[in-house]
Amino acid sequence: MDMKTIKDVNFKDKKVLVRCDFNVPVKEGVITDDTRIRESLPTIEKLLADGASVILMSHLGRPAGTGFEAEYSLAPVAQRLSELLGRKVLFSNDVFTEVTVSMARDLKLGEVLLLENLRFIKGETKGDEGFASYLASLGNVYVNDAFGTAHRAHSSTAIIAKFFPNDKYFGFLMAHEITNLEKLLHSAEHPYTAVIGGSKVSSKIDVLKNLADKVDALLVGGGMAFTFVKALGGKVGNSLVEEDKIELAKEILEVYKQKGVKFVLPKDSLCSNRFDNEAERKVFPTDEIPDGWMGMDIGPEAVAEFESVLASSKSVLWNGPLGVFEMSNFSEGTLQIGRCLGKVTENGGYTAVGGGDSVAAVNRLGLAKGISYVSTGGGAMLEYLEGKVLPGVAAILE
Ligand code: 3PG
Repeated sequence: MDMKTIKDVNFKDKKVLVRCDFNVPVKEGVITDDTRIRESLPTIEKLLADGASVILMSHLGRPAGTGFEAEYSLAPVAQRLSELLGRKVLFSNDVFTEVTVSMARDLKLGEVLLLENLRFIKGETKGDEGFASYLASLGNVYVNDAFGTAHRAHSSTAIIAKFFPNDKYFGFLMAHEITNLEKLLHSAEHPYTAVIGGSKVSSKIDVLKNLADKVDALLVGGGMAFTFVKALGGKVGNSLVEEDKIELAKEILEVYKQKGVKFVLPKDSLCSNRFDNEAERKVFPTDEIPDGWMGMDIGPEAVAEFESVLASSKSVLWNGPLGVFEMSNFSEGTLQIGRCLGKVTENGGYTAVGGGDSVAAVNRLGLAKGISYVSTGGGAMLEYLEGKVLPGVAAILE
């Protein structure tokens, strides 16, 4: 893929519009995880070092699109960015007003301006061309560095690119994500194992189908495992099951069987009698969970089997927790898998992690640096792994 990145271009004297994904968790005005902001710094710093001025655009959360809503303001991001960049980041309290237009017009080389949450304007999520053209009018180069939002065909992520036929690029973060995802889809070294967890099989169907052609083994954990166990005739007690996906689960199992790819379900599960961290706990074989009990984490035998498959893997992709990770008594299976990935990297293998809880697990273990690639995307990463062309990526390549 011709990457069209900012790497070999000099942006001196340009006013560069950069779409970032600053959709970070904010609690009472305080950012609780600034990873996405820090990951955007190399692009911003490169543009400033070249002698450009930079206009940053992002969304935060899902406001109604009817104007300002304090809880979704990007003001805390402007402040955090100022700290991280070590220079003042100007902030326009609005998106679509004369004030913004004049702030953008008067921006000097070396200055950074962040616009307020684009989703305060309805046109953004509708992919409105008029709004995209307005945003385009604020600068003379467009850089997309918002991987987390690349699966949305919004005004600022995709539509805007058509106004810059010869001046549109991927930022460093976007290029890094694409390079790694392409590797996971097309050139990962074998043996290649995917670990897929999460509560629902319905959100991972297309990923599971697409991976069947790529991997040598698939390890399944989390709530979604029980739908497969039930599809195979197991007894899963009160565990989470998507009854309407059982037929589909059978189809997926058949695809893996036909292709001769190992499909590993947890042999045993740590169960509880209530959905509560303090509930009583017992380990049962995953296909013999009594009524009244529900699987909350993978059990010790499952951990050992997953570990042995991972130990002989050269490439590992992990997405989704193996149990109810947010409850401390049921987070151990997920943490163990995080540790295994750390070891695979240590032994020279390639490891990739994406999705909120799995990324949180490697962060909690202080292991993020021991993983080859940690994605900033949730939905965007999954759609890429499904084999879809993301609108934000296509718009730069067109
Ligand atoms: C994300 O956090 O997944 C992205 O920022 C996209 O957000 P969205 O699902 O609200 O479009």
